[in-house]
Amino acid sequence: MTSSSPRTVIRSTGMSVPEKVVTNADFEAIVDTSDEWITTRTGIKERRMCAEGQNTADMAAEAGRVTLADAGLDPDDVDILILSTATPDHLLPATACETQALLGCENAAAFDISAACAGWLYGVSLADAMITSGMHENVLVIGSEKMSAILDYTDRTTCVLFGDGAGAALVSVGGGNGRGILGTHMRTNGRQARLLWRPAGGAALPSTDETRSDRMEYVKQEGREIFKQAVMCMESACRHVLDSTDRRISDIDLVIPHQANIRIIDAVASRLGVERDRVFVNIDRYGNTSSASIPIALDEARRQGRVGEGSTILMTAFGGGLAWGASVVVL
Ligand code: UT7
Repeated sequence: MTSSSPRTVIRSTGMSVPEKVVTNADFEAIVDTSDEWITTRTGIKERRMCAEGQNTADMAAEAGRVTLADAGLDPDDVDILILSTATPDHLLPATACETQALLGCENAAAFDISAACAGWLYGVSLADAMITSGMHENVLVIGSEKMSAILDYTDRTTCVLFGDGAGAALVSVGGGNGRGILGTHMRTNGRQARLLWRPAGGAALPSTDETRSDRMEYVKQEGREIFKQAVMCMESACRHVLDSTDRRISDIDLVIPHQANIRIIDAVASRLGVERDRVFVNIDRYGNTSSASIPIALDEARRQGRVGEGSTILMTAFGGGLAWGASVVVL
Protein backbone atom coordinates (compact mmCIF):
# COMPACT_ATOMS: atom_id res chain seq x y z
CA MET A 1 0.00 0.00 0.00
CA THR A 2 1.26 3.49 -0.81
CA SER A 3 0.33 6.91 0.57
CA SER A 4 0.67 9.61 -2.10
CA SER A 5 0.81 12.35 0.52
CA PRO A 6 1.71 10.67 3.79
CA ARG A 7 -0.25 11.61 6.88
CA THR A 8 1.76 9.57 9.32
CA VAL A 9 5.24 9.90 10.73
CA ILE A 10 7.52 7.83 12.90
CA ARG A 11 7.75 10.43 15.61
CA SER A 12 10.03 8.72 18.12
CA THR A 13 11.68 5.41 18.93
CA GLY A 14 12.98 3.47 21.93
CA MET A 15 14.39 0.14 22.98
CA SER A 16 15.05 -2.04 25.99
CA VAL A 17 17.30 -5.07 26.24
CA PRO A 18 18.10 -7.20 29.28
CA GLU A 19 21.42 -6.55 31.02
CA LYS A 20 22.61 -10.13 30.88
CA VAL A 21 24.96 -10.80 27.94
CA VAL A 22 25.41 -14.37 26.67
CA THR A 23 28.51 -14.86 24.51
CA ASN A 24 29.32 -17.53 21.95
CA ALA A 25 31.84 -18.91 24.45
CA ASP A 26 28.95 -19.46 26.89
CA PHE A 27 27.32 -21.71 24.26
CA GLU A 28 30.53 -23.68 23.76
CA ALA A 29 30.00 -24.87 27.32
CA ILE A 30 26.47 -26.23 26.74
CA VAL A 31 26.26 -27.49 23.12
CA ASP A 32 28.68 -28.78 20.47
CA THR A 33 29.45 -25.44 18.82
CA SER A 34 32.22 -22.86 18.53
CA ASP A 35 32.62 -19.10 18.46
CA GLU A 36 34.18 -19.57 15.02
CA TRP A 37 31.13 -21.43 13.60
CA ILE A 38 28.60 -19.01 15.05
CA THR A 39 30.54 -15.92 13.96
CA THR A 40 31.25 -17.03 10.42
CA ARG A 41 27.86 -18.66 9.73
CA THR A 42 25.68 -15.99 11.38
CA GLY A 43 27.64 -12.85 12.38
CA ILE A 44 26.47 -13.19 15.99
CA LYS A 45 28.97 -12.64 18.82
CA GLU A 46 26.60 -12.15 21.75
CA ARG A 47 22.93 -11.76 22.62
CA ARG A 48 20.90 -10.64 25.65
CA MET A 49 18.90 -12.85 27.98
CA CYS A 50 16.13 -11.97 30.42
CA ALA A 51 16.74 -12.33 34.12
CA GLU A 52 14.43 -14.63 36.04
CA GLY A 53 11.04 -12.94 36.32
CA GLN A 54 11.77 -10.46 33.52
CA ASN A 55 9.15 -10.96 30.83
CA THR A 56 8.04 -9.82 27.37
CA ALA A 57 5.69 -7.19 28.86
CA ASP A 58 8.45 -5.72 31.06
CA MET A 59 10.78 -5.12 28.11
CA ALA A 60 7.85 -3.87 26.00
CA ALA A 61 6.80 -1.36 28.66
CA GLU A 62 10.35 -0.07 29.07
CA ALA A 63 10.81 0.36 25.30
CA GLY A 64 7.42 2.12 25.22
CA ARG A 65 8.38 4.43 28.10
CA VAL A 66 11.59 5.49 26.33
CA THR A 67 9.66 6.05 23.09
CA LEU A 68 7.04 8.26 24.73
CA ALA A 69 9.73 10.26 26.54
CA ASP A 70 11.52 10.71 23.20
CA ALA A 71 8.30 12.18 21.75
CA GLY A 72 7.58 14.28 24.86
CA LEU A 73 4.17 12.59 25.24
CA ASP A 74 2.35 11.20 28.27
CA PRO A 75 1.08 7.62 28.40
CA ASP A 76 -2.46 9.06 28.33
CA ASP A 77 -1.83 10.42 24.81
CA VAL A 78 -1.57 6.95 23.29
CA ASP A 79 -4.74 5.90 21.42
CA ILE A 80 -3.66 2.42 20.38
CA LEU A 81 -0.95 0.10 21.67
CA ILE A 82 0.04 -2.64 19.21
CA LEU A 83 2.41 -5.27 20.54
CA SER A 84 4.05 -7.66 18.13
CA THR A 85 5.36 -10.81 19.78
CA ALA A 86 5.99 -14.49 19.12
CA THR A 87 6.61 -14.95 22.83
CA PRO A 88 3.48 -13.75 24.64
CA ASP A 89 3.76 -13.97 28.41
CA HIS A 90 0.43 -15.83 28.51
CA LEU A 91 -1.76 -17.26 25.76
CA LEU A 92 -4.64 -15.26 27.26
CA PRO A 93 -4.95 -12.29 27.51
CA ALA A 94 -2.77 -10.42 25.01
CA THR A 95 0.62 -9.31 26.38
CA ALA A 96 -0.31 -5.82 25.13
CA CYS A 97 -2.84 -5.63 27.99
CA GLU A 98 -0.20 -6.14 30.66
CA THR A 99 2.10 -3.75 28.82
CA GLN A 100 -0.65 -1.13 28.78
CA ALA A 101 -1.10 -1.48 32.53
CA LEU A 102 2.66 -1.23 33.17
CA LEU A 103 2.90 1.86 30.96
CA GLY A 104 -0.27 3.47 32.28
CA CYS A 105 -1.72 4.17 28.83
CA GLU A 106 -5.19 4.52 30.34
CA ASN A 107 -6.84 5.79 27.15
CA ALA A 108 -5.42 3.19 24.81
CA ALA A 109 -6.94 0.08 23.28
CA ALA A 110 -4.23 -2.57 23.33
CA PHE A 111 -3.82 -5.79 21.37
CA ASP A 112 -1.18 -8.23 20.16
CA ILE A 113 -0.33 -9.14 16.61
CA SER A 114 1.38 -12.37 15.65
CA ALA A 115 3.48 -12.28 12.50
CA ALA A 116 6.82 -13.49 13.93
CA CYS A 117 9.87 -11.53 12.75
CA ALA A 118 7.76 -9.43 10.35
CA GLY A 119 5.28 -8.50 13.08
CA TRP A 120 6.60 -5.07 13.98
CA LEU A 121 6.65 -3.96 10.35
CA TYR A 122 3.09 -5.30 9.92
CA GLY A 123 2.19 -3.29 13.05
CA VAL A 124 3.62 -0.09 11.60
CA SER A 125 1.57 -0.62 8.44
CA LEU A 126 -1.55 -1.16 10.56
CA ALA A 127 -0.80 1.97 12.59
CA ASP A 128 -0.34 3.92 9.35
CA ALA A 129 -3.75 2.75 8.10
CA MET A 130 -5.47 3.53 11.42
CA ILE A 131 -4.08 7.06 11.39
CA THR A 132 -4.67 7.67 7.68
CA SER A 133 -8.30 6.65 8.18
CA GLY A 134 -8.64 9.53 10.64
CA MET A 135 -9.61 7.23 13.50
CA HIS A 136 -6.52 7.72 15.69
CA GLU A 137 -3.59 10.07 16.24
CA ASN A 138 -0.95 8.24 18.25
CA VAL A 139 -0.23 4.53 17.87
CA LEU A 140 2.57 2.96 19.88
CA VAL A 141 3.97 -0.04 18.00
CA ILE A 142 6.19 -2.31 20.07
CA GLY A 143 8.06 -5.50 19.18
CA SER A 144 9.08 -7.46 22.26
CA GLU A 145 10.50 -10.97 22.43
CA LYS A 146 11.65 -13.25 25.20
CA MET A 147 13.08 -15.80 22.78
CA SER A 148 15.03 -17.48 25.60
CA ALA A 149 11.68 -18.84 26.87
CA ILE A 150 11.01 -20.85 23.69
CA LEU A 151 14.51 -22.03 22.76
CA ASP A 152 15.72 -25.60 23.12
CA TYR A 153 19.11 -25.22 24.80
CA THR A 154 20.05 -28.75 23.70
CA ASP A 155 19.59 -27.88 19.98
CA ARG A 156 22.67 -26.12 18.62
CA THR A 157 20.96 -25.37 15.32
CA THR A 158 18.54 -22.90 16.95
CA CYS A 159 19.60 -21.92 20.48
CA VAL A 160 22.64 -19.88 19.43
CA LEU A 161 20.68 -17.73 16.99
CA PHE A 162 18.18 -15.78 19.04
CA GLY A 163 18.18 -13.13 21.76
CA ASP A 164 15.77 -11.21 24.00
CA GLY A 165 14.82 -7.55 23.65
CA ALA A 166 12.23 -4.96 22.72
CA GLY A 167 12.01 -1.98 20.39
CA ALA A 168 9.25 0.53 19.71
CA ALA A 169 8.14 3.48 17.64
CA LEU A 170 5.41 6.04 18.05
CA VAL A 171 3.50 6.39 14.79
CA SER A 172 1.62 9.68 14.80
CA VAL A 173 -0.47 11.91 12.61
CA GLY A 174 1.87 14.35 10.88
CA GLY A 175 3.84 14.49 7.68
CA GLY A 176 4.61 17.49 5.51
CA ASN A 177 8.00 18.40 3.98
CA GLY A 178 8.03 14.95 2.40
CA ARG A 179 8.22 13.22 5.79
CA GLY A 180 6.19 10.15 6.56
CA ILE A 181 5.52 6.49 5.88
CA LEU A 182 5.59 6.44 2.08
CA GLY A 183 4.55 2.87 1.55
CA THR A 184 4.66 -0.71 2.79
CA HIS A 185 4.59 -4.05 0.99
CA MET A 186 3.56 -7.16 2.96
CA ARG A 187 3.22 -10.79 1.97
CA THR A 188 2.63 -14.19 3.62
CA ASN A 189 3.13 -17.77 2.42
CA GLY A 190 1.28 -20.03 4.83
CA ARG A 191 2.02 -23.13 2.76
CA GLN A 192 5.47 -23.06 4.27
CA ALA A 193 4.33 -22.35 7.81
CA ARG A 194 6.08 -25.38 9.24
CA LEU A 195 9.56 -24.34 8.16
CA LEU A 196 9.69 -22.29 11.36
CA TRP A 197 7.29 -23.20 14.13
CA ARG A 198 6.57 -24.55 17.59
CA PRO A 199 4.68 -27.82 17.05
CA ALA A 200 3.07 -28.13 20.50
CA GLY A 201 1.65 -25.94 23.23
CA GLY A 202 -1.19 -24.40 21.21
CA ALA A 203 -4.82 -25.45 20.80
CA ALA A 204 -4.05 -27.99 18.06
CA LEU A 205 -1.59 -29.92 20.19
CA PRO A 206 -1.73 -28.92 23.84
CA SER A 207 1.28 -29.74 25.99
CA THR A 208 1.43 -33.24 27.41
CA ASP A 209 4.22 -35.22 29.08
CA GLU A 210 4.88 -36.75 25.66
CA THR A 211 5.15 -33.43 23.77
CA ARG A 212 7.41 -32.10 26.51
CA SER A 213 9.69 -35.12 26.44
CA ASP A 214 9.90 -34.73 22.62
CA ARG A 215 10.76 -31.05 23.16
CA MET A 216 7.93 -30.00 20.83
CA GLU A 217 7.15 -26.74 22.64
CA TYR A 218 10.41 -25.26 21.38
CA VAL A 219 11.25 -23.44 18.14
CA LYS A 220 12.03 -25.72 15.21
CA GLN A 221 13.53 -24.31 12.03
CA GLU A 222 14.61 -25.59 8.62
CA GLY A 223 17.50 -23.16 8.52
CA ARG A 224 18.77 -23.67 4.98
CA GLU A 225 15.35 -23.39 3.32
CA ILE A 226 14.43 -20.35 5.44
CA PHE A 227 17.73 -18.74 4.43
CA LYS A 228 16.95 -19.06 0.70
CA GLN A 229 13.40 -17.80 1.12
CA ALA A 230 14.56 -14.88 3.26
CA VAL A 231 16.98 -13.59 0.63
CA MET A 232 14.48 -13.90 -2.24
CA CYS A 233 11.48 -12.49 -0.37
CA MET A 234 13.28 -9.52 1.22
CA GLU A 235 14.81 -8.53 -2.10
CA SER A 236 11.45 -8.79 -3.84
CA ALA A 237 9.62 -6.84 -1.09
CA CYS A 238 12.23 -4.07 -1.26
CA ARG A 239 11.89 -3.84 -5.05
CA HIS A 240 8.08 -3.72 -4.78
CA VAL A 241 8.04 -0.94 -2.22
CA LEU A 242 10.72 1.07 -4.00
CA ASP A 243 8.64 0.86 -7.21
CA SER A 244 5.36 1.72 -5.50
CA THR A 245 6.87 4.72 -3.71
CA ASP A 246 8.70 5.84 -6.84
CA ARG A 247 12.09 5.62 -5.16
CA ARG A 248 15.36 4.11 -6.30
CA ILE A 249 17.82 2.29 -4.07
CA SER A 250 20.17 5.28 -4.52
CA ASP A 251 17.52 7.45 -2.76
CA ILE A 252 17.82 5.35 0.40
CA ASP A 253 20.06 6.74 3.15
CA LEU A 254 19.97 3.58 5.25
CA VAL A 255 18.61 0.06 4.81
CA ILE A 256 17.44 -1.42 8.10
CA PRO A 257 17.01 -5.17 7.58
CA HIS A 258 15.76 -7.78 10.02
CA GLN A 259 18.82 -9.11 11.83
CA ALA A 260 18.71 -12.90 11.41
CA ASN A 261 22.00 -13.71 9.71
CA ILE A 262 24.78 -11.45 8.40
CA ARG A 263 24.99 -13.61 5.27
CA ILE A 264 21.29 -12.99 4.55
CA ILE A 265 21.78 -9.25 5.09
CA ASP A 266 24.83 -9.19 2.79
CA ALA A 267 23.07 -11.22 0.09
CA VAL A 268 20.02 -8.93 0.10
CA ALA A 269 22.23 -5.83 0.03
CA SER A 270 24.30 -7.18 -2.82
CA ARG A 271 21.21 -8.12 -4.89
CA LEU A 272 19.80 -4.62 -4.32
CA GLY A 273 23.17 -3.08 -5.22
CA VAL A 274 23.60 -1.24 -1.93
CA GLU A 275 26.97 -0.97 -0.26
CA ARG A 276 27.56 -2.06 3.38
CA ASP A 277 27.90 1.49 4.75
CA ARG A 278 24.24 2.10 3.87
CA VAL A 279 23.08 -1.03 5.69
CA PHE A 280 22.54 -1.10 9.45
CA VAL A 281 23.93 -4.14 11.27
CA ASN A 282 23.83 -4.91 14.99
CA ILE A 283 23.31 -8.68 14.86
CA ASP A 284 26.77 -9.14 16.41
CA ARG A 285 25.45 -7.71 19.72
CA TYR A 286 21.85 -8.93 19.90
CA GLY A 287 21.43 -11.99 17.64
CA ASN A 288 17.97 -12.46 16.15
CA THR A 289 15.39 -10.75 18.37
CA SER A 290 12.52 -11.60 15.99
CA SER A 291 10.02 -8.75 15.79
CA ALA A 292 12.12 -6.54 18.08
CA SER A 293 15.04 -6.55 15.67
CA ILE A 294 14.03 -3.75 13.28
CA PRO A 295 12.80 -1.29 15.95
CA ILE A 296 15.95 -1.90 18.02
CA ALA A 297 18.07 -1.28 14.92
CA LEU A 298 16.07 1.83 14.00
CA ASP A 299 16.43 3.25 17.50
CA GLU A 300 20.19 2.60 17.52
CA ALA A 301 20.57 4.11 14.04
CA ARG A 302 18.79 7.28 15.23
CA ARG A 303 20.78 7.53 18.45
CA GLN A 304 24.08 6.95 16.64
CA GLY A 305 23.21 9.76 14.21
CA ARG A 306 23.19 7.38 11.22
CA VAL A 307 19.72 8.76 10.39
CA GLY A 308 17.76 11.83 11.47
CA GLU A 309 14.82 13.96 10.43
CA GLY A 310 14.55 13.87 6.63
CA SER A 311 16.49 10.62 6.16
CA THR A 312 14.92 8.06 3.85
CA ILE A 313 15.04 4.54 5.22
CA LEU A 314 14.13 1.16 3.76
CA MET A 315 13.15 -1.42 6.37
CA THR A 316 12.69 -5.07 5.44
CA ALA A 317 11.65 -8.09 7.50
CA PHE A 318 11.26 -11.84 7.01
CA GLY A 319 10.34 -14.70 9.30
CA GLY A 320 7.97 -17.42 10.45
CA GLY A 321 4.63 -17.60 8.68
CA LEU A 322 6.31 -17.29 6.33
CA ALA A 323 5.70 -13.56 6.59
CA TRP A 324 7.72 -10.72 5.14
CA GLY A 325 7.60 -7.13 4.03
CA ALA A 326 9.35 -3.84 3.39
CA SER A 327 8.60 -0.22 4.04
CA VAL A 328 9.99 3.13 2.85
CA VAL A 329 9.84 5.93 5.43
CA VAL A 330 11.15 9.48 5.45
CA LEU A 331 11.93 10.17 9.11
O1 UT7 B 1 14.27 -14.81 11.80
C1 UT7 B 1 13.93 -15.21 10.53
C2 UT7 B 1 14.01 -16.63 10.26
N1 UT7 B 1 15.27 -17.26 10.43
C3 UT7 B 1 16.30 -17.07 9.60
O2 UT7 B 1 16.31 -16.22 8.75
C4 UT7 B 1 17.45 -18.03 9.71
C5 UT7 B 1 17.84 -18.54 8.33
N2 UT7 B 1 18.87 -19.58 8.34
C6 UT7 B 1 20.14 -19.36 8.76
O3 UT7 B 1 20.48 -18.30 9.21
C7 UT7 B 1 21.14 -20.48 8.57
O4 UT7 B 1 20.58 -21.49 7.76
C8 UT7 B 1 21.58 -21.12 9.93
C9 UT7 B 1 22.47 -20.14 10.69
C10 UT7 B 1 20.38 -21.51 10.77
C11 UT7 B 1 22.41 -22.36 9.66
O5 UT7 B 1 23.53 -22.04 8.83
P1 UT7 B 1 23.84 -22.92 7.53
O6 UT7 B 1 25.08 -22.39 6.94
O7 UT7 B 1 22.59 -22.90 6.68
O8 UT7 B 1 24.14 -24.31 8.14
P2 UT7 B 1 23.40 -25.69 7.88
O9 UT7 B 1 22.05 -25.71 8.52
O10 UT7 B 1 23.50 -26.02 6.43
O11 UT7 B 1 24.34 -26.67 8.70
C12 UT7 B 1 25.72 -26.88 8.31
C13 UT7 B 1 26.39 -27.72 9.39
C14 UT7 B 1 25.57 -28.94 9.80
O12 UT7 B 1 26.45 -30.00 10.05
P3 UT7 B 1 26.58 -31.19 8.97
O13 UT7 B 1 25.20 -31.77 8.84
O14 UT7 B 1 27.07 -30.53 7.72
O15 UT7 B 1 27.57 -32.08 9.62
C15 UT7 B 1 24.96 -28.50 11.09
O16 UT7 B 1 24.65 -29.59 11.96
O17 UT7 B 1 26.57 -26.94 10.57
C16 UT7 B 1 26.06 -27.65 11.69
N3 UT7 B 1 25.61 -26.72 12.69
C17 UT7 B 1 26.41 -26.24 13.65
N4 UT7 B 1 27.70 -26.45 13.94
C18 UT7 B 1 28.21 -25.80 14.98
C19 UT7 B 1 24.37 -26.18 12.82
N5 UT7 B 1 24.35 -25.36 13.90
C20 UT7 B 1 25.60 -25.39 14.42
C21 UT7 B 1 26.20 -24.75 15.51
N6 UT7 B 1 27.51 -24.98 15.76
N7 UT7 B 1 25.52 -23.90 16.32
